[in-house]
Amino acid sequence: MAQYLVTGGAGYVGSHCVLALRARGDRVVVLDDLSQGHAAAVPEGVTLVVADLAARDKVAAVFAEHRFDAVLHFAARSVVGESMANPLSHIGANLGNALILAEEALRAGCDRILLSSTAALFGAAERQPIDEDCPIAPGNPYGESKLMIERALDWAHKLKGLRFAALRYFNAAGSDPEGRLGEDHDPETHLMPLAIDAALGRRPPLTVFGEDYPTPDGTCIRDYVHVSDLADAHLRVLDRLESHPRLTYNIGSGTGHSVRAVLDAVERVAGNPVPHTLGPRRAGDPAVLVAASEALKRDTGWQPRFAELDTMVATALAWRRAHPDGYAD
Ligand code: UFG
Repeated sequence: MAQYLVTGGAGYVGSHCVLALRARGDRVVVLDDLSQGHAAAVPEGVTLVVADLAARDKVAAVFAEHRFDAVLHFAARSVVGESMANPLSHIGANLGNALILAEEALRAGCDRILLSSTAALFGAAERQPIDEDCPIAPGNPYGESKLMIERALDWAHKLKGLRFAALRYFNAAGSDPEGRLGEDHDPETHLMPLAIDAALGRRPPLTVFGEDYPTPDGTCIRDYVHVSDLADAHLRVLDRLESHPRLTYNIGSGTGHSVRAVLDAVERVAGNPVPHTLGPRRAGDPAVLVAASEALKRDTGWQPRFAELDTMVATALAWRRAHPDGYAD
């Protein structure tokens, strides 16, 4: 039986990944400072260590106590707007924590890391959909921080034998189809959960950030990928890391949806209008981000099972209806 360390395993994407690892019988230790994560999102049978990755002694203690086959690194600051407001502390925290983690992993003899990376490192990409060979040009400090981590771990791969995969997600959305987990950020900044809460009358109208982008309806286009499909991708890439020591994949459903299309989907699925107002552009937002995930499909057989926008909304809405106050319920 394999055992994995999942940093940020109490958070949105990390917790769905923990669930998938447990479902195939793997053992998991979660390391999370619970700044965004929730203890209630960690399933029974999984050890939760509450600690900040910046506390090197605590990270070292986890590696001293357990033997891990690989580390899945989700824990990070990930809100683009926050990165624009605090570029240095944002980059410093994300990079510094990842370096501590990788160093302690290698020191303990754990030589496999799966990194939660991001489409944000492509910035305003020259071509769409974005494949792994697209030029890298982060348009915000968040994307820059993930690029720096990728590059640092690449050196550890070349010089220290680290087996390393970077998974560049586009927009994670939806929640566990069986309703065991959901999305619960504080503050919530993501479009779909904000639209769902607005439709349920649990939040004020949301603001559409910009209607003057060079897209058919003027709003930003994103590639939404179901969080359970993301989790499935992690399992497949972990397996492939056995035979291929350095991997990079872009992960999306391959279809772009505008902000307006997301609001329409929420309205359709929830059966309520989504109250909203129009506002200016949000700093750091590229107009279009759509993934080409052919490499992942070809190499691992991955196929998104929940690629429809309405399915993503339906799973997220079901959890939210069952947990109006999120994990506090
Ligand atoms: N949006 C609004 N109003 C809101 C919130 C969002 O119009 O209140 C718009 C944004 O401008 C953007 C789209 O909805 O065009 C999606 O925004 P999100 O905040 O949901 O997601 P982002 O695309 O900004 O970022 C997400 C993750 C990042 C990751 C990125 C990769 O939060 O960590 O996807 O595509 F880098």
